[in-house]
Amino acid sequence: MTASLTNVRGRASYVSSNFIGNCRKCHNPHDTSTALEIGRQWAESGHGDTAGSPRASRDFKTYGTYQPVNTTFESNCVRCHTTTGYVNFVSSGFTVQRPFAGPGFQIAQYPALSTDTTKEVTACNACHDDGNGNAYSFKLRTVPQVYIYYNYSGSSTATNPGARAVSLQTSIPVKFNNNLVYYPDSGPSNMCISCHAGRGYGNMITIAAGAPYFLNFSTSTSIGSAHAFPGAATLFQKIGYEYAGRDYSSAAFLHSKIGVSNTNATGNLGPCISCHMNSTESHSFRPVAFSTEPTETNPTVGVIGSLVSRTCSKCHTGANSWTATKLQGKRSGFQTAITALYGLFYKQGVVVSRTTTSWGIPTNYNWNRLYGSASGPNTMGAYTNYNVLKSDWGAYAHNDRYVRRLIYDSIDWLNDGVLNNDVEAAINSLATAKNPWNSSVNYSGSELLTMQQNAIRYLIGGPGGPRP
Ligand code: HEC
Ligand code: HEC
Ligand code: HEC
Ligand code: HEC
Ligand code: HEC
Ligand code: HEC
Repeated sequence: MTASLTNVRGRASYVSSNFIGNCRKCHNPHDTSTALEIGRQWAESGHGDTAGSPRASRDFKTYGTYQPVNTTFESNCVRCHTTTGYVNFVSSGFTVQRPFAGPGFQIAQYPALSTDTTKEVTACNACHDDGNGNAYSFKLRTVPQVYIYYNYSGSSTATNPGARAVSLQTSIPVKFNNNLVYYPDSGPSNMCISCHAGRGYGNMITIAAGAPYFLNFSTSTSIGSAHAFPGAATLFQKIGYEYAGRDYSSAAFLHSKIGVSNTNATGNLGPCISCHMNSTESHSFRPVAFSTEPTETNPTVGVIGSLVSRTCSKCHTGANSWTATKLQGKRSGFQTAITALYGLFYKQGVVVSRTTTSWGIPTNYNWNRLYGSASGPNTMGAYTNYNVLKSDWGAYAHNDRYVRRLIYDSIDWLNDGVLNNDVEAAINSLATAKNPWNSSVNYSGSELLTMQQNAIRYLIGGPGGPRP
């Protein structure tokens, strides 16, 4: 229940300014011990974490905008990083993204500082609401079908640094307004989608490359990442840069239908809630429990200890059943495939500095440099696929075949500028690799070989396998 000490850095708190005198946004006022066990699970999850950088690194309630949602490039952080901003956004039909302050405080908009020094978590009332602003009935908030504007601005103005929805810097101004993307109506899981849809997606490259923009990919162009934990964008196949001529459809895919119209007896709470909350620890929001926890920035140290979701077994039965070991194998396969893609950027010289310690892929890069004048979009697409999938630690569980195809095609392209299925050779050609989530971990010798074999097994089932 601590308030932030400074305006900019410092912890978030449960009883932040809008919650003072509003304990019922989390508790039954007649009995604070109701749902205490659920409260404890939530408190240990990322949604209730007061110290993590998604809460504490900035005063997110000031990172909002008064401009219309369809044309703005100003900060929209408030709608995902605070509960009040989220409630404003979803209850206004995804239009209001304004900054806020608690009662009695003047509202400040970044870069101005707020005198309200508290910060919010993703509180109970984000998801629970009885229609009258009370959470404690623990009815689910009604959120309509989600649509998100992924607008991009190529104009980088010194007076408004960091205010773009997604950083896209070019020497020529390129703006896309009204770039609307609909997510399928997913019932109660609509609640999760708008915060886990990311801030950018692969198709923006295709848009930028085409009429009327014709973005010049040779003039130091950068497109930002999908940002953090964009599980919805992966699940609903929005996230990737898709290569022309390659097929990304899958008739067998069923994960987006989980919890929709009781598909395979999975109920009606939508895919996110059905996989993530159907367990004895619903408010850990986790389908799996880790025997070794991932850190805040590095999933590769985490190891799945058990499957806690009761939903997987509605479909994955018999020989297809998941065990913790099998799913962890899939998980590390995905991580090695991303590692191989990262290694290929290094091999091809698409890195800031080719030293052993620094391997930053420049966002600001001449993307035509590798394969000539029309090749920029495909090379930037490989980078975007790397970047967005790296942000979704559950990508392999959300939409595995799609993810494997995106990584496969990105490696295929990056290897020689032609889509000619030389992915296995490309991976085997790597002389060194580095952990994308922890740049101090390098792979060489037998570790490199294991990484390569894992990546090949994950992507194509083993040596000689076809495109997934
Ligand atoms: C953002 C949600 C949130 C708000 C707002 C909130 N609480 Fe809590 N409270 C919790 C959670 C979660 C726990 C359990 C935490 C734990 O055990 O780690 C808790 C625990 C408690 C407990 C301890 C209960 C017990 O038996 O151990 C009391 C008492 C309490 N809160 C009172 C209040 C009061 C009074 C307010 C308003 C001033 C308030 N809370 C506002 C989330 C909240
Ligand atoms: C108001 C925005 C918001 C909503 C709504 C929201 N999330 Fe999150 N979620 C976040 C943020 C921010 C984090 C990162 C928190 C952190 O790591 O400190 C997060 C983290 C997570 C994590 C990572 C695990 C963890 O404990 O860190 C999972 C899983 C998750 N959310 C699932 C869901 C599901 C499922 C729903 C819908 C029931 C949902 N989220 C709704 C903002 C939201
Ligand atoms: C679509 C929802 C959404 C929007 C909009 C959004 N974020 Fe986030 N952000 C998240 C989620 C979810 C996480 C948790 C992921 C994690 O912990 O890695 C996160 C994590 C972060 C983190 C901590 C991890 C990291 O990447 O460093 C920072 C800092 C951050 N966001 C800043 C911002 C800023 C600044 C803005 C606005 C310019 C913004 N975010 C807009 C959803 C969003
Ligand atoms: C990110 C969204 C989200 C947040 C935040 C959240 N819940 Fe829930 N909660 C849900 C969903 C979804 C269900 C329905 C789960 C189901 O039926 O399987 C639920 C169900 C419940 C239930 C009733 C059913 C049960 O699981 O036994 C209670 C009680 C509850 N939540 C309390 C809380 C409390 C207390 C908090 C805050 C400390 C909280 N919730 C925060 C999404 C959320
Ligand atoms: C409604 C049915 C359904 C549910 C529930 C379900 N899955 Fe799946 N899953 C499928 C189908 C069907 C495929 C194959 C899709 C394809 O081939 O494109 C699949 C594929 C996968 C894959 C990748 C392919 C593979 O077999 O290697 C993973 C990983 C996966 N599921 C994990 C899970 C996990 C973990 C859960 C529970 C948290 C779960 N699934 C729940 C139907 C389901
Ligand atoms: C088929 C089951 C399944 C469905 C459906 C599903 N998830 Fe996940 N999700 C998982 C599993 C399993 C993990 C754990 C991955 C790990 O950390 O290795 C996960 C991880 C996550 C994480 C944590 C880190 C990350 O970004 O990967 C978030 C956030 C998340 N999912 C959000 C969502 C949202 C939002 C939805 C709905 C749009 C959703 N998930 C639908 C199974 C599912």
